[in-house]
Amino acid sequence: MKPLRLGVNIDHVATIRNARGEAYPDPARAAELALMAGADGITAHLREDRRHISDRDIAVLADLTRRRGLPLNLEMAVTPEMEAAALTHLPHAVCLVPERREEVTTEGGLDVAGQYNRIAPLVGRLRQAGIRVSLFIEPVRPQIEAAAAMGADVVELHTGAWCLSVRERTHEAHQRFSALRDGAVLAEALGLEVHAGHGLDYETVGPIAALPQIAELNIGHFLIGEAIFVGLGPAITRMRRLMDQARGAPAPAGEAAA
Ligand code: PXP
Repeated sequence: MKPLRLGVNIDHVATIRNARGEAYPDPARAAELALMAGADGITAHLREDRRHISDRDIAVLADLTRRRGLPLNLEMAVTPEMEAAALTHLPHAVCLVPERREEVTTEGGLDVAGQYNRIAPLVGRLRQAGIRVSLFIEPVRPQIEAAAAMGADVVELHTGAWCLSVRERTHEAHQRFSALRDGAVLAEALGLEVHAGHGLDYETVGPIAALPQIAELNIGHFLIGEAIFVGLGPAITRMRRLMDQARGAPAPAGEAAA
């Protein structure tokens, strides 16, 4: 099976910092710790309203990840301002997401099928600049086919609705998981690299990690919350272990029973 990478999203370290307008906790310090704990890359969302990550954070994170030779995945909306930010900082990857100012978090996938003519040229310009382009979409055929047609490198399948139905034990869970599983198969068949993320926790990470087409998971809010109780390093280590176990990879020596 292909290896499964973990991108740790450190947005909510900045949320806590900004709640007081202080300089701490520092997202760059969280990124260093995450990389030490086994994250394969750092993900950060530069929102239009800058509610958590700032432009300066992106500059610092781009520099830090470049020095460490590890990827920065910049999540951003489809706007000229964000395009300029991406072209300034040249992250390893950009993940295009929908954004509404009043939303609490990224609520649904990007409508790449409906906004094809707006998004496809941006995908082309970012790729031209050497940036890998990922599209954060719902796991449905028209969106996956449009992503492939516009030449994206990656689709990140939105796991948020499925995670919610698992947490709330609602009957849609089965159907939503099937959509993710089938979406991953279709995306890979169309030549896309497949990522997944949003809302994942210790309970939901296993079934998603077990899908063999998926190459990367991006996880943030749960890990930062869990860090309050156990520390960021141990939270990431445990998530990583659950991912590896779901993939059938042997646990590192000494960790099997933890
Ligand atoms: N992937 C994408 C595209 C996202 O927008 C987010 C949230 O910023 C995540 C993954 C991480 O979601 P969560 O913070 O719920 O783990």
